Amino acid sequence: MNIIKENYTEEDKICIATKIKNISKERIKEEYQELKTIGINANQKSERCRVGNNIVDYFSFVKRLETKGKYNVNYFDFIVNIEEFEKKKFIKNMLNYYEREKNKKNTKNKFIVLKEIYNICISAINIIRPLVYMEIYTKYNQNEKCEKPKCILDFCAGWGGAVVAASALNIPKYIGIEINIELYEPYNKLCSFLKEEGSKTQVEMYFEDALKTDYSKLEYDFVFTSPPYYFIQKYKNNVLYKDKKDMNNNFYIPLFRETHKYLQKGGYYILNINKEIYENVCIPLLGVANDIFTYKKSKRQNNYNEMVYMWVR
Ligand SMILES: C[S@@+](CC[C@H](N)C(=O)[O-])C[C@H]1O[C@@H](n2cnc3c(N)ncnc32)[C@H](O)[C@@H]1O
Repeated sequence: MNIIKENYTEEDKICIATKIKNISKERIKEEYQELKTIGINANQKSERCRVGNNIVDYFSFVKRLETKGKYNVNYFDFIVNIEEFEKKKFIKNMLNYYEREKNKKNTKNKFIVLKEIYNICISAINIIRPLVYMEIYTKYNQNEKCEKPKCILDFCAGWGGAVVAASALNIPKYIGIEINIELYEPYNKLCSFLKEEGSKTQVEMYFEDALKTDYSKLEYDFVFTSPPYYFIQKYKNNVLYKDKKDMNNNFYIPLFRETHKYLQKGGYYILNINKEIYENVCIPLLGVANDIFTYKKSKRQNNYNEMVYMWVR
């Protein structure tokens, strides 16, 4: 396929992102207050509840659209090269289906239609909902005082849902590590917003390779993270590994070993990973998990056996 590289400016990208999701500041303020009200009862919310997602999208949706999926293309590449992609029968069929059936009343603009088709035919770059993070953060401590966690470590921080959740729950401290430096600005703005909304959570963000962090200098009693799964999505600025073995030996093993080693005794070590990583890396390194569960609607676009595994340190 002859893919032309998109060359939208930042402004163009923001404009397109707004045409897909037009989220107001008022809306995200309301959603943050709702999350605070839900608090430790996040587990009672249905998997369809999306409260808090708009906060994440308000700050980092454009960066999500820049993440490459199948064919090594992101959403912007996809729309720029739509004529090329139309040559693929399943994409052409999908476009026809939207025109004749799904969007026959023209309620969705072309950017929304193409986003939905991108999600189905290329890759859906999903977020973990802030409500899911809240549920996991409070899963093993359901009393009003919420004595634990005191400090969360999230060494593959991603789009920001975790820091929203930690703040809404008033968890004293959140440490996030993220290699994608392009998320620096979105996090800066997100953290300022959370402060303006009265959050007392101390947030420490490190934009660096989590393999290079000195965990002996950090104090944390709870780890929850969702690392990349082998080569499914291509996050910006991520290191490319030769094959699965290379990624096991030079990414998952040293990263899980170091972050687990410095977790406080009695703390929870929780990973959202697929079965393959659990079996190949985690069991030999950490033993059989103390708890295994799925979070509500955890299936990403492809069903590749994603679960949440918990070990007590
Ligand atoms: C599956 S995503 C996390 C998404 C997150 N759970 C969410 O919903 O927002 C994995 C993240 O790990 C980051 N990452 C990959 N390698 C890393 C590394 N060596 N150090 C720190 N972060 C890394 C990627 O840039 C990506 O943002």
